Amino acid sequence: MAQIEFLRHMSLVSLIVLILCSTPPIFATKNCDFPAIFNFGASNSDTGGLAAAFQALPLPNGETFFNRSTGRFSDGRIILDFIAQSFGLPYLSPYLNSLGSNFTHGANFATAGSTIKIPNSIIPNGMFSPFSLQIQSIQFKDFIPKAKFIRDQGGVFATLIPKEDYYSKALYTFDIGQNDLTAGFFGNKTIQQVNTTVPDIVKSFIDNIKNIYNLGARSFWIHNTGPIGCVPLILANFPSAIKDRYGCAKQYNEVSQYFNLKLKEALAQLRKDLPLAAITYVDIYSPKYSLFQNPKKYGFELPLVACCGNGGKYNYNIRAGCGATININGTNTVVGSCKKPSTRIIWDGTHYTEAANKIVFDQISNGAFTDPPIPLNRACYKK
Ligand SMILES: *[C@@H]1O[C@H](CO)[C@@H](O)[C@H](O)[C@H]1NC(C)=O
Ligand SMILES: *[C@@H]1O[C@H](CO)[C@@H](O)[C@H](O)[C@H]1NC(C)=O
Ligand SMILES: *[C@@H]1O[C@H](CO)[C@@H](O)[C@H](O)[C@H]1NC(C)=O
Ligand SMILES: *[C@@H]1O[C@H](CO)[C@@H](O)[C@H](O)[C@H]1NC(C)=O
Ligand SMILES: *[C@@H]1O[C@H](CO)[C@@H](O)[C@H](O)[C@H]1NC(C)=O
Repeated sequence: MAQIEFLRHMSLVSLIVLILCSTPPIFATKNCDFPAIFNFGASNSDTGGLAAAFQALPLPNGETFFNRSTGRFSDGRIILDFIAQSFGLPYLSPYLNSLGSNFTHGANFATAGSTIKIPNSIIPNGMFSPFSLQIQSIQFKDFIPKAKFIRDQGGVFATLIPKEDYYSKALYTFDIGQNDLTAGFFGNKTIQQVNTTVPDIVKSFIDNIKNIYNLGARSFWIHNTGPIGCVPLILANFPSAIKDRYGCAKQYNEVSQYFNLKLKEALAQLRKDLPLAAITYVDIYSPKYSLFQNPKKYGFELPLVACCGNGGKYNYNIRAGCGATININGTNTVVGSCKKPSTRIIWDGTHYTEAANKIVFDQISNGAFTDPPIPLNRACYKK
């Protein structure tokens, strides 16, 4: 019932959006009219890509909002969903999903475990997705002529792909980099060694953004990387890490900060190199970190403890992920979620709950954490 109510509500919203969009512009500083979103990234923006490529994620992933597992690593919506929703656009179909996908308003190339650089350790035997950023940009490159072919053919499939002019008008969003750092930490590199790889990772990021620009993309919304030292994945696996006053692994966060500094600098340069592009750097680190600094302010408790997990101080075990069936003293048990995910920041030890994602979205969308300081709905304008 709740779902039907929700759908009704959504169609009303779309109707209102439609009416607003068909009204001639009144203001000189018009909001951007993005007809589509193309996203590149890792698990923080995966809407089901990795699940489509390999295997479905189990419940309780998805329990809060979708009431089924969609392949999102959260109890509900992720930041990308809130971005799409804010423009009245549908949630993005994963490019890799062959069943029931609808690409009229964009596509999502992100998969959980994706890195910027080609990873050494690849799923199913290793830890990371084979769909690194370079592969994602190649998939986008292939998408354009395939979509054109289908559009020219007409028929039912033609109704599921974007219009030709959407590529230049769309918003291109990015959320990737955390796994390149994780790969270093889990590859037995010291924190300092991982830190020294950062400039090379960022260079590869920029090269891929240029590739996507060369395919016609113009409006870029690029997230930096979050405070990796605050997630149980790091805290539980590197227990001797030095902690800051909030219990986060200080030096691991410093590597994130260095990545973010280098990315911000590189994007400033890219703005000069690509004068036709509107490039927005989005500091997602700060609003995420503020959740751990001040959990009560946002209605959260147990900030560093996973909601859906099992074992130890952080309720996290890398071998017993959210929704997995584990054997405890001879009894099979499903790794389930906490009673109220809405009161938690961390969902599964690596990713955030819908409640946390919503707060971060609200903070980044108004321009307070972007360089240049423009809100999401003006991200088509060059500074
Ligand atoms: C959620 O899914 C379960 C099992 O599929 C179903 O029994 C339940 O009615 C659903 N709840 C809502 C609110 O749709
Ligand atoms: C695809 O998505 C568009 C936009 O949301 C919608 O109008 C259309 O009906 C969808 N097509 C199908 C077959 O669901
Ligand atoms: C890291 O070191 C441990 C212990 O020496 C070893 O078992 C593991 O295979 C190493 N991992 C990598 C990715 O090199
Ligand atoms: C990472 O490298 C930068 C540049 O050399 C340095 O300023 C920073 O302190 C380093 N951070 C860590 C955690 O090693
Ligand atoms: C499993 O068994 C051990 C030994 O009997 C006991 O100490 C432990 O508490 C049990 N664990 C759980 C989760 O029941």
